[in-house]
Amino acid sequence: MKRIIEETQVEPVAHEPAFSDAVIAWQKQHGRHKLPWQNTRDAYRIWLSEIMLQQTQVSAVIPYYERFLRRFPDVATLAAAPSEDVMAHWSGLGYYTRARNLHRCAQRVTDEYGGAFPADTLLLADLPGIGRSTAAAISAFAYGTRAAILDGNVKRVFARVFGVDGYPGQKKIEDQLWQRAEALLPLADIGSYTQGLMDLGATVCTRSKPSCGLCPLQKVCVALATDRVAELPVRKPKQTVPEKYTAMLVITDGAQVLLQQRPDSGIWGGLLSLPEVPDLLDEGSGALEDLLGAALLPYGVPENMGLERLLPFSHGFTHFKLHVAPYRITLARRLDTVGEATHVWLDAAKIADAPLPAPVKKLLLALFPQYSLI
Ligand code: ADE
Ligand code: SF4
Repeated sequence: MKRIIEETQVEPVAHEPAFSDAVIAWQKQHGRHKLPWQNTRDAYRIWLSEIMLQQTQVSAVIPYYERFLRRFPDVATLAAAPSEDVMAHWSGLGYYTRARNLHRCAQRVTDEYGGAFPADTLLLADLPGIGRSTAAAISAFAYGTRAAILDGNVKRVFARVFGVDGYPGQKKIEDQLWQRAEALLPLADIGSYTQGLMDLGATVCTRSKPSCGLCPLQKVCVALATDRVAELPVRKPKQTVPEKYTAMLVITDGAQVLLQQRPDSGIWGGLLSLPEVPDLLDEGSGALEDLLGAALLPYGVPENMGLERLLPFSHGFTHFKLHVAPYRITLARRLDTVGEATHVWLDAAKIADAPLPAPVKKLLLALFPQYSLI
């Protein structure tokens, strides 16, 4: 364990005193000083506040924090409490995994560390519910450890001040931000610096309409200098899902339509659906008719191969978007070679009750409106 700690802990690298000096001076003059978890070095209280503040606003946390501390004044009391009691005191704060981890963490601190939270950020980050940034905050506030925080607010401040161009949730960008966060640490006054970054993010460099005129970093801020405050940090890129294309064959014979059983696995597994010609992109060429004609051969003799294009539709799945081009084909003569177990001729009257994918059912009901139930 010791080896790992030695290898992964950052060296006190060359730091930028101008940056941290500005944050510390601003925090002392304009930061928050009377929050209930400030002005203490009790790691238990600091830990509790940091966990509550992970996903909840300061104003919502304060009453819960005070009530929680009255019932569980120290880590041993919390560790020994029944979990229903812990959950009851968390009830209303949301994200209840935090409460379960909190209880487990208290038990581990009691059992493994004799009730004293470790100062080492790597040991802290090994405890339930404590990530890298929370570990750094606890250690900095409780023990004065030079450790870097990087929560959502701090990412926003850094992305703007340094004009970081990528999405901060992306691993590569996040790694760069951590490096900066480490490099900027002051040599002294880590508590004021850490609180100052939090306060700046919460009260000045806010998500929308930041108060740049009041900001101690305005002279060095790249976003402000280049008029990109509104664009930074870069938003989460929209997931581009792959697109797939297919032609669906609506082969009818009188008041019957030909359906095919879908394989058990994959989309619409086990349902009945229309026969398809996958990957068929309609580019308005004659090749389309050739392909469809070939695809139709097993089913019978198309009347005159006059295809009726129906209205295309798209359907979104979790992992791709399917674009469907349906074609209606009327058979002049039905071939009984379709007798494979996977195909059925369905009476149009049964469409409404058949196990069909919703968009296919909708399409068929539109083609046989007399059988629609509505
Ligand atoms: N958010 C996370 N930690 C905080 C702290 N110590 N003070 C105010 N807001 C916070
Ligand atoms: Fe944020 Fe404006 Fe300060 Fe830049 S100058 S860090 S954008 S508040």
